Amino acid sequence: MRRKRIVVLGATGSIGESALKVAHDIPERMEIVGLAANSNVKKLAAQANVVRPKALCLVDESKASELPGLLDYQPQIFTGEKGLVEIACLEEAEMVLVAVVGTGGLRPALAAIEAGKDLAVASKEILVMAGETVMREAATKGVMVLPVDSEHNAIFQCLDGQRKRPTPNAQRPTSNEEVRRLILTASGGPFRETPASEFEEITLERALRHPTWNMGPKITIDSATLFNKGLEMIEAHWLFGVEMKRVEVVIHPQSIVHSMVEFADGSVLAQLSHSDMCFPIQYAVTWPERVPNSLPPLDFGKLSKLEFVTPRYDDFPALNLARQAGETGGTLPAVLNAANEVAVSAFLARQISFPRIWQLVEQVMNRHTSVAHPDLDAILRADQWGRTEATAAVGPISQV
Ligand SMILES: NC(=O)c1ccc[n+]([C@@H]2O[C@H](COP(=O)([O-])OP(=O)(O)OC[C@H]3O[C@@H](n4cnc5c(N)ncnc54)[C@H](OP(=O)(O)O)[C@@H]3O)[C@@H](O)[C@H]2O)c1
Repeated sequence: MRRKRIVVLGATGSIGESALKVAHDIPERMEIVGLAANSNVKKLAAQANVVRPKALCLVDESKASELPGLLDYQPQIFTGEKGLVEIACLEEAEMVLVAVVGTGGLRPALAAIEAGKDLAVASKEILVMAGETVMREAATKGVMVLPVDSEHNAIFQCLDGQRKRPTPNAQRPTSNEEVRRLILTASGGPFRETPASEFEEITLERALRHPTWNMGPKITIDSATLFNKGLEMIEAHWLFGVEMKRVEVVIHPQSIVHSMVEFADGSVLAQLSHSDMCFPIQYAVTWPERVPNSLPPLDFGKLSKLEFVTPRYDDFPALNLARQAGETGGTLPAVLNAANEVAVSAFLARQISFPRIWQLVEQVMNRHTSVAHPDLDAILRADQWGRTEATAAVGPISQV
């Protein structure tokens, strides 16, 4: 039994906070050696004073000078985007937890792989944009890409049971034919039962009220549009090497079954727990072992029902748009992701209506000519192109 030394990118966010809770809960298995955030200097310093990691990074250089004065010890301090790459390659670290919202985690993730670190990936954006590159580089370097997203972590757990002794390079199912379908569960978000005729009236406050998960604002809006599930379909395709047509979605409002795998013989394995990100984070950290913790167990006597419903594909076009992007591949997923990020920011700023989010993404996707098997530069160019097109489509700033 060994302590894993971990750098957390996105420490001040919702996943970052959960990671700190896990480290506190299982100190004999998890040691945080680095913490990184974008600009929340006070929170980063407060976390550091408790956890006392060897290194810190603040990406926003204009606030970096405040950091030393807020600390009661003297860690190594990195700054800027370059600093994020440097802390991801910290010599002491064995694993990097990428929990940066948006695409800022891609370069540090690739650098960490290059430096031989295992990745625990919460930032689905990096696998959506560059899944082919990330998985290829990880395989070349012989490092693990462990999913933290609860659905992919669930699938990983279901697939893990199929092997007697998992080894780092046996991350994908040994035989693709053994897996018939990956079934991602989705809570359905706050508008699961809202008639499409009312979508135009949806307010920001209502969209931010997720029924089962407590998360950052971007992913909460993505859960309401179902783009989150769409991004996860593409993420699953790359993580597990399963074609898009075998990645399916089912609405499960209780968020207790986190995802399922149907095997060739028709048997289905599912992973269940309370909806708390500490579960998947811990599994990614302690894999391939399981250790006790203080998280609450499921009380089956109190689970009155577990429901499963087919998604309303016509009312929530995000799922079909993501399937189209995943099946086309190349640079189209990066464009979908970029356009969605711009659209969500505009919705959060009350500049566009709720249905305009997917209309805008579709408009930008339709204008894109995908480049097959793109290298990192081509991916980043497509990302930038998607952002520029989407920003133009948002139009002049006005409030809705
Ligand atoms: N929350 C969940 O339950 C959940 C579940 C599954 C997957 N995920 C994924 O995990 C990622 C993080 O989600 P979240 O909900 O934790 O987001 P969040 O609460 O908004 O936190 C985002 C974190 O990323 C940092 N950050 C933002 N931009 C950055 C940049 N350019 N460089 C470095 N750090 C940056 C933020 O720092 P500041 O605080 O300084 O701005 C913060 O620490 C997302 O990709 C999301 O899709 C989240």
